[in-house]
Amino acid sequence: MKKGKHLFTGKAKTVYETDDPQRLILLFRNDTSAFDGEKVERLERKGATNNKFNAFIMQKLEAAGVATHFDRLLSENESLVKRLDMIPVECVVRNISAGSLSKRLGVKEGEDLNPPVFEFFLKNDPLHDPMINEYHIRAFGWATDGEVEVMQKMTFSTNEVLKKLFADAGLLLVDFKLEFGRFDGKLVLGDEFTPDGCRLWDARTREKMDKDRFRRDLGGVVEAYEEVARRLGVPLD
Ligand code: TMP
Ligand code: ASP
Repeated sequence: MKKGKHLFTGKAKTVYETDDPQRLILLFRNDTSAFDGEKVERLERKGATNNKFNAFIMQKLEAAGVATHFDRLLSENESLVKRLDMIPVECVVRNISAGSLSKRLGVKEGEDLNPPVFEFFLKNDPLHDPMINEYHIRAFGWATDGEVEVMQKMTFSTNEVLKKLFADAGLLLVDFKLEFGRFDGKLVLGDEFTPDGCRLWDARTREKMDKDRFRRDLGGVVEAYEEVARRLGVPLD
């Protein structure tokens, strides 16, 4: 697969066209951002770790019946994916209170949320990804009602699959964010699933093993991602 024209530079990934109009190459960079791009640092090995981590998770999800854009790993830092028409909405599921939910509702971090909470956010950094609901999505035409329903179903299915996968590795899946897009008239999971976009705590000690280490200057960010990968059996080399 030949890398073509540069298409887009995101905060942590760069997207390239290929000689197939239906395929893109995702390059996972070492750049790590928080607070909607306000804080950015380059962390050694993060790009390669997340590229392999994402490949592993996407394959697990496919095997469990969740359609994803992932095709295959191309190199240390690159993956081949389907070219999607992205929906500008982020789907978040929370199993335990943390982050913006704790702040917004004044709930302390670490409360079990049963049943899990689902939230939509608008993907818009200058506006700091405001929380929205299905009425906004409908009014502004970001997705159809059918698509809203499918995104919610696929996000909850992902939660069931990954809660178990992480639990078997001694980790709590606290919350995560997914993005979807259209391919051949069908919704599929796009973007990435890595510790950059979820919260993972050690089940015994509740130690943070995700991007909160970076947000809160706890250190050992990539080391934590590598430890999660090791526990899951993600081949890193
Ligand atoms: P939050 O607590 O900041 O709302 O985030 C909830 C989860 O979703 C957390 O694991 C981080 C992830 N997330 C992103 O990765 N990017 C985003 O833009 C948003 C809104 C959430
Ligand atoms: N999408 C956000 C950013 O990278 C995630 C965060 O705030 O951590 O800026």
